[in-house]
Amino acid sequence: MISRKLKDKLAGLETPFYLYDMDLLRLTLESAVSMASRYGYKLHYAIKANYDPRLLEMIRSYGLGIDCASGNEVRCALEAGFDPSGVVYAGVGKKESELRYAISQGIFAINCESLEELEVLSALATEMGKTVTVALRVNPDIDPKTNHCIDTGQADSKFGISYEEILENSERIRQLPGLRVRGMHLHIGSQIRELHVFEYLCEKVNVIVENLEAAGFELEFVDVGGGLGINYDMPENEPVPNFASVFAIIHSHLRVGGRPVHFEFGRAIVGQCGELITRVLYNKTTATGRKLLIVDSSMTELIRPALYGAYHNIENITSAETKREKYTVVGTACESTDKFDENVSLPVSKRGDLLTLKSAGAYGQSMASRYNLHDLPRSVYSEEL
Ligand SMILES: Cc1ncc(COP(=O)(O)O)c(C=O)c1O
Repeated sequence: MISRKLKDKLAGLETPFYLYDMDLLRLTLESAVSMASRYGYKLHYAIKANYDPRLLEMIRSYGLGIDCASGNEVRCALEAGFDPSGVVYAGVGKKESELRYAISQGIFAINCESLEELEVLSALATEMGKTVTVALRVNPDIDPKTNHCIDTGQADSKFGISYEEILENSERIRQLPGLRVRGMHLHIGSQIRELHVFEYLCEKVNVIVENLEAAGFELEFVDVGGGLGINYDMPENEPVPNFASVFAIIHSHLRVGGRPVHFEFGRAIVGQCGELITRVLYNKTTATGRKLLIVDSSMTELIRPALYGAYHNIENITSAETKREKYTVVGTACESTDKFDENVSLPVSKRGDLLTLKSAGAYGQSMASRYNLHDLPRSVYSEEL
């Protein structure tokens, strides 16, 4: 969150850039780690949310493992110094080269998402003379009550293996050479704000674990994914997400014996510590009377609004105007969907003013692209200012 002093310092910097509040990241990690330790829960950071090396360094210093979604993410985690024994790797379409790499690095678990993937992994592990620990990513058919674009655990989703298919093929799966099928994994979606959804999740997991055991699987751990949401509407009211509540819910509803429980949070760890700082380039009014603020960033820096209608709170951090105006804030990319928000109430804003798009630490910089040959956004860290 940006203090008065910081605002003055930002004014002289070239825009756009991501500003990371390292104190807030520290506070968030302290909260996550201390709440998880109450129950002995194991935390992995979903590295896809943000790959910034300074953020990774701090996350590693708090002892988190990593959750990956590609071979290059596994490589990035290992190069950032994370121990392979804390790395899990899920992904609906892992290529052979990625599987070979993950096998060779001896990571904690590969989370498999189809029967065919299990067979390919088994063949590769056997060929390489290795035994791989596997978690079955189960599709539990749960509605996480979030934006449909970011739900991942409903029956028709591309993610995970249907629970029925696992039970029907349990014998075949258990006998695949080169695999130790020891984990049950699920991830039902992201930006979950209705925490009672985690109660349903526990109820499903309890039944799934019991039935997988009855089908002969020797499960040693359960990974319940990530998904804890953050307050995009009023980030200042909730800078640190409610880890205490979600862990308390899981603790009181999950019945998986003494098995370790793993979490894979991305957004909840880094979402609130990042903001996209951008400058007003031009004011323009459409023929229909709509007032546009054209800023010097776009969907190439922050694609979430264009990709799935995500909301980011926008503030003008340099204007001293008291009069307010309603704006549509648009970016520089050559796409009509390149729009950050409509009807944004801001102080009357002029060329050169700085805007912040808040809560942009997760799935912001990591989703940046070079469309229109834009430069990739750089990082600025609060502790350097
Ligand atoms: C398998 C898996 N785990 C964890 C996450 C992290 O989710 P979140 O950032 O909502 O915590 C994701 C996000 O897509 C995921 O696909």
